[in-house]
Amino acid sequence: MSFLKLDGITASYGPAQALFGVDLSLAEGEVCALMGRNGMGKSTTVRVICRLLAHSGGSVTFNNRDIGALPPHKAARLGIGLVPEGRRCFPNLTVSENLIAAARPGDWDLARVAQLFPRLEERRDQMAVSLSGGEQQMLAIGRALMTNPRLLILDEATEGLAPVVRQEIWAAVGRLKSETGMGILLVDKSISELRLVADRAVILERGASVWSGVMADVNHALADQYLGV
Ligand SMILES: Nc1ncnc2c1ncn2[C@@H]1O[C@H](COP(=O)(O)OP(=O)(O)O)[C@@H](O)[C@H]1O
Ligand SMILES: [Mg+2]
Repeated sequence: MSFLKLDGITASYGPAQALFGVDLSLAEGEVCALMGRNGMGKSTTVRVICRLLAHSGGSVTFNNRDIGALPPHKAARLGIGLVPEGRRCFPNLTVSENLIAAARPGDWDLARVAQLFPRLEERRDQMAVSLSGGEQQMLAIGRALMTNPRLLILDEATEGLAPVVRQEIWAAVGRLKSETGMGILLVDKSISELRLVADRAVILERGASVWSGVMADVNHALADQYLGV
């Protein structure tokens, strides 16, 4: 059985339908890339998984349990950790306060986050608002880890960051893959980096999943057709 499974998901924002049939499955410990051009429904799919948006059709199960009726905080309690698009943190709390505010019992604590991102440790008493974009992204990932997720979802975590900082984020994702058993769903545009870390991929086109398979099979023709690269 799948750890995370979406089956024929449809969803709308008011009268505007955004998802028209998304299928996705992820095994525990697996890294899956969720790909597609802008506006194709990646973040909407993420919102449905995290229960931030109610779907109108299809089903979503996590750990063999239908989570379609759960509110977001209960989905989080089951172990779904989200690093949202736009790396939101509490701007007027310090780094430590941001991390502690997210904490739930488990292996991940301040010390372990500091191991993954030493820069956060150096800045622990600084207000989040004073951090660089890359540091804010590290903090957003740290906050999600503090919830001790079994599934971590990163929505455009490297977007808009300098190459050297992007590499730090990718290195952290690689460590999470090799050092933890968590499942990871990655929304990102960098195919070359995804190739290094993702096991499988799902491609969305106009709100529907149009291709899924192993990441190594995402070739130039597919990328050209669906990703515009
Ligand atoms: N809050 C919202 N209200 C209305 N429409 C939205 C909202 N967020 C996204 N959409 C629409 O839903 C579709 C999918 O968007 P999104 O899931 O954000 O795409 P992606 O993350 O792949 O760029 C787009 O047509 C977008 O305009
Ligand atoms: Mg998006």
